[in-house]
Amino acid sequence: MNIIHVKNYEEMSQKAAALLFERIQQSPKITLGLATGGTPENTYTALIAKAKENGQSFSHVQTFNLDEYVGLPAEDKNSYRHYMEQRLFDHIDIPKEKTHLPNGMAPSLEEECRAYENMIADAGGIDIQLLGIGSNGHIGFNEPGTPFSSKTHVVELAEETRKANARYFPTLEDVPKQAITMGIQTIMEAKEILLLISGKAKAEAFAKLCSDEVTEAFPASILNKHPNVTVIADEEAASVY
Ligand code: GLP
Repeated sequence: MNIIHVKNYEEMSQKAAALLFERIQQSPKITLGLATGGTPENTYTALIAKAKENGQSFSHVQTFNLDEYVGLPAEDKNSYRHYMEQRLFDHIDIPKEKTHLPNGMAPSLEEECRAYENMIADAGGIDIQLLGIGSNGHIGFNEPGTPFSSKTHVVELAEETRKANARYFPTLEDVPKQAITMGIQTIMEAKEILLLISGKAKAEAFAKLCSDEVTEAFPASILNKHPNVTVIADEEAASVY
């Protein structure tokens, strides 16, 4: 893993946006894997600013998000589809049909998982996958104990994860109990991975990630086995490392 240490959240976001922007500029066609949550928010803002400054089109880009809640329609303001539209897609010229998230309202969730996995494969795989990390080491919604061999699947969300995400919902009860997520193997098949870690709440997770122990009890630890991972960590995240 190539670890880049930065001062704070803002510097992390600027560096991440610069790296993504470079890949987008240099590739005639590119497939991005995208993430939600608080961590990548300003990365998207910075990416939009760079696109505007440079007159950079996103018409050659397609995207696949890591995950989506089960039971929230696209228009729900807490759906990840809505998050992505608000924070990125509505501000760049990417054709909507080239932006993909799992459909958490699909009549057959199992079928949706298979179809999503096939769509990624048909696209030729993900060129660069943006990732955040949960304090328990989850990536996407792959909670501790998820097999490293997992593909896109339905998950029961850990109580810890629901609590962490409750800040976006009126009450904890409103946080969905299930989600569809790319599997760990799906993530590992990306040609390049960019992991962002910011804040004190992630310090233990960062230290574990750097400990080199690869275990399904800490999903992000598998990233140690990927040949092309860049981690951008701020001072607070690196404070117990
Ligand atoms: C969420 C998302 C993950 C995200 C993680 C951390 O549950 N499914 O993709 O990386 O938890 O979120 P945050 O960046 O808000 O700390």
